[in-house]
Amino acid sequence: MERVFIKTFGCRMNDYDSQRMAGALAEDGYIITEKEEEADVVIINTCSVRGHAEDRAMSHIGRYVKGKKVVVAGCMAQNLGAVLKKQFPKIFAVAGTLYFSEMGRILREGGVFTSGGTEEYKTVLRKGGVSGLITIMQGCDNYCSYCIVPYVRGRERSRPVKAIIEELKGMAGEGYKEAMFLGQNVNSYRDRESGADFTKLLLAACEVNGIERIRFMTSHPKDLNSRLIDAVAAEEKLCPHFHLPVQSGSDSVLKRMNRGYTAAEYLAKTSNIREKIKDVSITTDILIGFSGETEEDFLRTVELVEEVRFDSAYMFRYSVRKGTDAEKFPDDVPEEEKLRRLNYLLDLQKKIGEDVNRAYVGREFDVLVLGESEKDRAFMKGTTANNKRVYIGGVLAVPGVTVRAGLTELRGESFIGEIKK
Ligand code: 5AD
Ligand code: SF4
Repeated sequence: MERVFIKTFGCRMNDYDSQRMAGALAEDGYIITEKEEEADVVIINTCSVRGHAEDRAMSHIGRYVKGKKVVVAGCMAQNLGAVLKKQFPKIFAVAGTLYFSEMGRILREGGVFTSGGTEEYKTVLRKGGVSGLITIMQGCDNYCSYCIVPYVRGRERSRPVKAIIEELKGMAGEGYKEAMFLGQNVNSYRDRESGADFTKLLLAACEVNGIERIRFMTSHPKDLNSRLIDAVAAEEKLCPHFHLPVQSGSDSVLKRMNRGYTAAEYLAKTSNIREKIKDVSITTDILIGFSGETEEDFLRTVELVEEVRFDSAYMFRYSVRKGTDAEKFPDDVPEEEKLRRLNYLLDLQKKIGEDVNRAYVGREFDVLVLGESEKDRAFMKGTTANNKRVYIGGVLAVPGVTVRAGLTELRGESFIGEIKK
């Protein structure tokens, strides 16, 4: 019986896919181990979204093939396929994004599996805990010009409400209190069977006993509607946090990116969110130095960041991806200029994030205790509904329990909390 270690790169959907692989393998008689050194097989679940992500995975493949049976799975496997096998002949198998449930067979047969495949959802082997992931839809139909996801993840397809609710009930049975709904664009979720949209799915999920909080990501600004905003405002279980990638504050850049909204439309949505939902968190992704981005364009992004006042923002320097529409556009912002713009925005966002967070010090929130703090065993870590990390001391902070805590201090991007009796 082979022991399998799964190494995961990339986004939360990849984490979920790794749990799907683990589930399929466990059913097939394989042993899943958390310890790399005792594994016979290493599955590397990869990301392709930026060149950097692929480079990192490559260096890990190079290291692992020296001592272990290696399977490369996920987005980069889908993207590069047989090329990977050529570059690293010792790779035992390459398995694309439609082969997660067939991992057992792949570990026996070896080879390149990148065309065909199924999307069967078997058992998901979660690690246990308070908060769990669940993918509600796969793929993407938006074709943002810079993005490789539609090519490696395929067309958009939503899982049926029934299957999601079933899985959610299972999670509740395992003791999970919080579920994170995942999709590349959750706002375009649609169940083909029942016709339910994303808001309907969320409202159905709120009925599942035991699940106390539901989070979701990623929202797409062009498809986010006020029904969803109203539902989050009204329903206690739906967490007031929107991850709403803006990418740029310049309309001409947004147009070349094929994003389907203007900066003004984005701002209208974020103000609608803030008007209706108290203490809501809004986070974003920003792509810096896209083809043709002038200083003027960049300043529009700076203005937008100042106006929205994001809780936090992930920022990336643009890198060309083969096969995308933007591959035909010149990558004409010099690397040192990309870096200068990135650093400027990082600084600005850090200040804004600190200001936003500081205003929460001295207030009380419900904190769901997730587990022990990795850094300091004397503290437990938890989150507020609006996704602020809180460290709490004392015996009352038990994983899975929601406590009322006063936020007494801001440390970096986290808070120290004290339980209120
Ligand atoms: N280069 C850099 N960043 C990218 N992203 C997507 N494609 C690219 C690319 N070609 C970023 C976007 C997206 C996040 C997941 O990754 O900001 O929202
Ligand atoms: Fe996730 Fe996209 Fe990276 Fe694939 S390419 S792992 S979907 S971020």
